[in-house]
Amino acid sequence: MHHRKFCLCVSALFLLFSSYLGIFLSTANGEDENSAPKVSFFRQIRPIFQANCQGCHQPAKRGGDFVMTDFSQLKKGGETGMPAIVPGDPDSSYLLEQIKATDGKADMPKAAKPLSAGEVELVRRWITEGANDDTPKNAVTKFDMDHPPIYSNAPQITTVDYSPDGKYLAISGYHEVLVFNVSNWQLQYRLVGLSERIESAIFSNNSQFLAVAGGSPGRRGEIQIWDIAKKKLVLSRGVLYDTLYGASWSADDKLIAFGCPDNTVRAISVETGEQVLFNGAHNNWVMDTTFGLKDEHIVSVSRDMSVKLIEFKSQRFMDNITSITPGALKGGLYAVDRHPTKNEIACGGADGTPKIYKMIRDKKRVIGDDHNLIRKFGALIGRVYDVKFSSDATKLVACSSLDGKGELKIFNVSDGKELASLSVEKGGLFACDFSPDGKTVVAGGFDGLVRVVNVEDGKLIKQFSPVPIELAKK
Ligand code: HEC
Repeated sequence: MHHRKFCLCVSALFLLFSSYLGIFLSTANGEDENSAPKVSFFRQIRPIFQANCQGCHQPAKRGGDFVMTDFSQLKKGGETGMPAIVPGDPDSSYLLEQIKATDGKADMPKAAKPLSAGEVELVRRWITEGANDDTPKNAVTKFDMDHPPIYSNAPQITTVDYSPDGKYLAISGYHEVLVFNVSNWQLQYRLVGLSERIESAIFSNNSQFLAVAGGSPGRRGEIQIWDIAKKKLVLSRGVLYDTLYGASWSADDKLIAFGCPDNTVRAISVETGEQVLFNGAHNNWVMDTTFGLKDEHIVSVSRDMSVKLIEFKSQRFMDNITSITPGALKGGLYAVDRHPTKNEIACGGADGTPKIYKMIRDKKRVIGDDHNLIRKFGALIGRVYDVKFSSDATKLVACSSLDGKGELKIFNVSDGKELASLSVEKGGLFACDFSPDGKTVVAGGFDGLVRVVNVEDGKLIKQFSPVPIELAKK
């Protein structure tokens, strides 16, 4: 009986499925019923170039003086003067020659695995069919280092970070990171890359480099690494097809970890861009990461409400740092920061209460326990979006957002005492950081203004828009 039912089900499904297919094929074919649909640049070719080529061929990093993010430059080619793409003539298209593999090796992508035969064939077909650009107007890249965005109002701030040497402050903009010289609050660098959304911009421990996690929603996730003094993009690595979050540097500045919208934690090598860690223990977006002391662990927080400990060497999930008893946690977690000298972490999220935990459990878990908890701080309004230790580890800052209001609180780490606070009537706060000398805190959020706050009394020292605003002419 069972068997018979099963057969009926399968054949019904098959019928349903084939009729769907029928519909699909007839619309995709359009006018010509016999030929395969034309290759789409936007849907089929561009993703191949994004994933394999654009990291080295974009305005901020033009390998062989060849830019592949702008369609007219993509056709034209680079320093050799050979046309990269000749519509209708694949054999005269230099790009095709560069990606064709012989004996498992191809000139491009440089120092990487060649494209698959299927991908190369797709590019060939697209060129043969006329190499048309079907990119929708709203998906064309408009900005680069020579053409930074023009603002009519300040975009919301998602990340602020002081360089450890105290010289610079990095702030997210649209399509760019703005780097300020702290000594005179002048805008020093505008680092314009491919990603429109910047989720985190974090200085390396030696203050020389800036790691940026971000992307273009639904299209591309990206890690950028900038050499600050040279104002140069040293690495652009495409990862997945959506925005990336929460970048962090290893203590030796050789690795960058980040959170992904496919629920994974990953890390790449700064030198090569190669992936060196992949962990899929979370079951929702991973929002922030931090390395443990000596780079032996990575700690990640996620919208799945958990704080996870991953061992670097084995890439394996080791432990849930916080309690995982149902009901113990409320809502997702958005921020994690490691204590400057101990394997302890501060985290914050939807329950509004920043907490400090031991990273590594010294007692076996008992159901329902929250053994690693060291300290709970006073609640902020709404959700906590960022937490940071001061560099001497005596203080903790957290900021939050609720119904368009923001709050910032500074606490004593040793006894949890609230030292100062600041309320923002209009606009939540999403990012905060201590200056390395511990005297000021910087915060930003929905209204796009940078606030510099005196740690001692919570008074506002300075408030400004990080982006140049072109006032509408009246
Ligand atoms: C790791 C960096 C890197 C990646 C990835 C890369 N390229 Fe290149 N590409 C270069 C550099 C550097 C040159 C300059 C010549 C050289 O050094 O070999 C170059 C040169 C070229 C040229 C010659 C341009 C000219 O006219 O001089 C073409 C065409 C090209 N690349 C296509 C591609 C394509 C297509 C991909 C992706 C499938 C790709 N490259 C991926 C770094 C890269």
